[in-house]
Amino acid sequence: MKQYLKHPVFQLISETAEEMQKPVYVIGGFVRDLLLNQPSKDIDIVVLGSGIELAKKVAEKIGKHTKAKYFKNFGTAMLRYKDWQIEFVGARKESYRKDSRKPIVEDGTLEDDQKRRDFTINALAINLQKEKYGELIDPFNGIDDLKNKIIRTPLNPDITFSDDPLRMMRAIRFATRLNFFIDTDCFKAIKRNKERIKIVSKERITEELNGIILAPEPSRGFKILLETGLLEIIFPQMVDLQGTEFIDGKGHKDNFYHTLEVLDNVAGKSDNLWLRWAAILHDIAKPQTKIFVPDIGWTFHAHEFKGAKMVPEIFRKMKLPLNEKMRYVKKLVLLHLRPITLVENIVTDSAVRRLLFEAGDDIDDLMMLCKADITSKNQQKIKRYLKNFKLVREKLKDIEEKDKLRNWQPPVSGDVIMKTFNLKPCHKVGIIKNAIREAILDGEINNNYEDAYAFMIKEGEKLGLKMAEGSKDLR
Ligand code: CTP
Repeated sequence: MKQYLKHPVFQLISETAEEMQKPVYVIGGFVRDLLLNQPSKDIDIVVLGSGIELAKKVAEKIGKHTKAKYFKNFGTAMLRYKDWQIEFVGARKESYRKDSRKPIVEDGTLEDDQKRRDFTINALAINLQKEKYGELIDPFNGIDDLKNKIIRTPLNPDITFSDDPLRMMRAIRFATRLNFFIDTDCFKAIKRNKERIKIVSKERITEELNGIILAPEPSRGFKILLETGLLEIIFPQMVDLQGTEFIDGKGHKDNFYHTLEVLDNVAGKSDNLWLRWAAILHDIAKPQTKIFVPDIGWTFHAHEFKGAKMVPEIFRKMKLPLNEKMRYVKKLVLLHLRPITLVENIVTDSAVRRLLFEAGDDIDDLMMLCKADITSKNQQKIKRYLKNFKLVREKLKDIEEKDKLRNWQPPVSGDVIMKTFNLKPCHKVGIIKNAIREAILDGEINNNYEDAYAFMIKEGEKLGLKMAEGSKDLR
């Protein structure tokens, strides 16, 4: 650890604070990550004095190109030095009001500052004063909690969580990302204080939720969110997936736990947050579409269509982006059953071509999602699926190579159709364009200009259109 703190940036901060005769410490996530052998480049510095003054002096010493940013209202300052990001703050004592996450702040001792922090593992400090350089200051046994993989608050957890309810989400994020356990008292306090999450902005909640989703095994976090009651408040549609129902001795699987399995499967293959969101939402409309059909059993007819329709609303409520990321998730939810349908049925070229056309560049992600969706416990069934899955992949590859259908545009454009038949933009142009596309996707004609052109002429004739005078091949 001392070795690491030999970096000139720490020496510089230490010397500067010594000149100001102010004790200085590095604290929080940086110390935690250092002890976990995952050193980060985000440093939090606490000084028993003015954080802004210290930051200014450090910036001066580094040189004229370095400037600290100050946030006078908060008494904090930030500066970048090479790839380090360093935050400076004076040690503080905080007290909170009932209706806000914003504390009333006063100067305090180092211990006051450590007490106001969220978890014992985030309250560790390392002394940067010359004579005690590198000494760990751990008043709440954070080191033991790190070793035993425990998330615990330094104070009574009811106070810590009520003061800043976002910390309930942080507790779950750390537990999930680091593979830690939430201490029992702390867990119970989250249950008791869950309603307080409502004073936190949606953006911040979602940021933490995304942090959970990006963990190696995100299901751990969702189970805790469910058990504490937080999920019901922040994402009720997901809680609706929970449970099984039996009629005439026939049950269906618990779609909440199935969804979590799919999510973990995807997480094992990809770090793409949006693919993980598609996994979370792929069956989101199952509760609304569930019907028991005698002799058949439980059906969830058209849940992929209804689910895709729910995506924008869920994204809007959760303040997730309403841009191409949302459209990508929507598309994957809509198409998530398609590859498996190909696997189950005899695969015609035309069905594969259609899927390639609709999925475009996202075909590989769709295949990944679809494979992750196979959570059956029946080994025979899994074997059969996986074998057929391989066939579909091969077929996709063959047809893609042959027809180049990703991001494909039919070879004859609307412009050519209009010029050939001397048309202004009108629905007949659309009819012909559609017919060409369908004919190519169905394999009736080849995917090239000559075939499409000839086909266009025939389609035009069917609509009673005449070729424009002097019209010829317009390539
Ligand atoms: N902190 C806190 N309560 C919060 C947020 C932060 O007590 N709601 C304290 C913790 O001591 C934390 C430090 O402020 O370690 C720095 O916060 P931040 O940079 O947000 O988190 P890190 O712990 O560094 O971890 P991460 O970057 O993964 O969020």
